[in-house]
Amino acid sequence: TSDKEAYKERIKTLLQQRDAVLVAHYYTDPEIQALAEETGGCVSDSLEMARFGNKHSAKTLIVAGVKFMGETAKILNPEKTVLMPTLEATCSLDLGCPAEQFSAFCDQHPDRVVVVYANTSAAVKARADWVVTSSIALDVIEHLDSEGKKILWGPDRHLGAYVQKQTGADMVLWQGACIVHDEFKAKALVELKKQYPNAAVLVHPESPANVVDLADAVGSTSQLIKASQTLPNDTFIVATDKGIFYKMQQAMPDKTFIEAPTGGNGATCRSCAHCPWMAMNGLQAIEAALTDGDGHEIFVDEALRKRALLPLERMLNFAK
Ligand code: 13P
Ligand code: SF4
Repeated sequence: TSDKEAYKERIKTLLQQRDAVLVAHYYTDPEIQALAEETGGCVSDSLEMARFGNKHSAKTLIVAGVKFMGETAKILNPEKTVLMPTLEATCSLDLGCPAEQFSAFCDQHPDRVVVVYANTSAAVKARADWVVTSSIALDVIEHLDSEGKKILWGPDRHLGAYVQKQTGADMVLWQGACIVHDEFKAKALVELKKQYPNAAVLVHPESPANVVDLADAVGSTSQLIKASQTLPNDTFIVATDKGIFYKMQQAMPDKTFIEAPTGGNGATCRSCAHCPWMAMNGLQAIEAALTDGDGHEIFVDEALRKRALLPLERMLNFAK
């Protein structure tokens, strides 16, 4: 702990010296979220992270999350220095959607509006008409559907299928998945619900459809935190990355939060739902990023940035 305290103190000093602010996602480890809060930064879902970075006056943004979040910050704020604890922190959705192949898929469906999830590279965003995060995916697709538009969706197939089912929109889906949420198991969840008959089930829509079907509330990280505050239940079974428990417990200290089961081959695992890339955002890595910056800074090619900016701005304007 004394080591940790020393890191925190150095980070606080460096943040001030560099006119930098820490922007963290709900899936990062509790100490990172606490540090962002303590230092006047923000802890939020991916949409709010983009908004916060865009509005804040700091010269440098240090984004504790995964690469697409840093890239989004840079696309929106080219004049700011955007640093990440590590550039290795990627996302299985981003990895599973290479720009060239995705672009070829789009070419096969020229009559469709291309809507991509924020969890994608700048190059994939540049090929899209719209970017959405999980908190506004439903609203955007509903809007496009009401205009009679046909949609090409990528990359998360579970979120795509969920939105398709909810809106009835005409959608073709890229077949990507999040390696964390894809692991939640419906059968084991049914068993767990029997043990906690009064618990409400909260599910992130990157989870498989049979898990979403068991949910009392489905939504983005911020929407799930809100549900934990507004639903009357005192116990919740939560199907999303366990990083979210920090905020839920902080907001509702008297309520009980239980992790939904994951695991394959009939075995179940609790406490396993944690994104390996989010977990790379440690105190040491944050200090390193603020100290030398080398190998931590996000750069996006200017021509690409301009193209990726359009669908991102469309999202931010829509979400206003
Ligand atoms: P939210 O937009 O719900 O925060 O989810 C983003 C995400 O999947 C990060 O893993
Ligand atoms: Fe990507 Fe899933 Fe990790 Fe989110 S939790 S960053 S969607 S791999």
